[in-house]
Amino acid sequence: MANAPVADRRLRLHEETVRGLQAEPKHLPTAWLYDERGSRLYAEITRLPAYYLPRRERELLRSYAPDIAARAQAETLVELGAGSATNTRVLLDALVYVGTLERFVPLDLNEEVLRESAPAIAAAYPGIAVEPLVGDFLDELAWLPAAGRRLVAFLGSTIGNLYPLQRRAFLRALAGVLGDGGAFVVGVDLVKDPRRLQAAYNDRGGVTEAFVRNALTAVNAELDATFEQRRFDFDARWDPAHDWMDIGLRARQAHTVSIPGLELEVSFEAGEQLRVEVSTKFRREAFDREFGLAGLRLDSWWTDPAGDFALVLALPAVP
Ligand code: TRP
Repeated sequence: MANAPVADRRLRLHEETVRGLQAEPKHLPTAWLYDERGSRLYAEITRLPAYYLPRRERELLRSYAPDIAARAQAETLVELGAGSATNTRVLLDALVYVGTLERFVPLDLNEEVLRESAPAIAAAYPGIAVEPLVGDFLDELAWLPAAGRRLVAFLGSTIGNLYPLQRRAFLRALAGVLGDGGAFVVGVDLVKDPRRLQAAYNDRGGVTEAFVRNALTAVNAELDATFEQRRFDFDARWDPAHDWMDIGLRARQAHTVSIPGLELEVSFEAGEQLRVEVSTKFRREAFDREFGLAGLRLDSWWTDPAGDFALVLALPAVP
């Protein structure tokens, strides 16, 4: 199922890790979160009561997937960061009902999660070819199969995990590959009361914390690094200046970590941050503007009555 060679992907991840650990604030690339254990923990997060995102998205898909399917008339559904592709099934059902769908291409960083989800989906949708791809959607857009009309899905507010510049590059590249007749459906979490955001990323059972700490475990395993969990506290807080949840760890006391696999020593001060992910929350006007600048046109913006979450259908802007 591989496309871009695995060795290239690891090398790029290692380079980004060096850069991130030398940056201010220090951060780790998101990819470290999603190894097999991380993908399982993420699936567990999606079932937490305080983590409202997947449920809101599912309700919106139940209401509007038929409109999306009718509009897209897609032969190919591509899902970026598909994981276990749970909410995607609502979209698959609608596309099958419209009768255009021939192919489902789930793309994910983690091969194991695709090895589970792809056959399950193939079994549930016998008329559809399921063709999983392993890779990072930031690099792989050019690899996506070009066959037929495409609907590209990006669910779970994963778009919020990109930094603004990454998001801009991603949206531009996407507008470029969508071509005539392509469509893009994206689930986006919206700005809301910080207390609810805080609760969504700080579950009492510690599943989110375990998910974030797994990034250190993954770096230790692959690069022989000496990160020690007890030297860090979990920290996820709302940053009103950036409209994002800033999620990661903080050093409890000053100490140095060595990472032989990168020939790197990293010193932390007491209280210093190690960011593992940002989760941006959006406002409609800014979102509209960004899509416009990237060459995409918002066709529909659907929200739940409380305004928690939006499901957005975008099309290439007419030149
Ligand atoms: N796309 C998810 C989000 O932004 C990813 C996520 C959920 C996440 N919980 C997390 C990322 C905790 C880091 C830490 O909500």
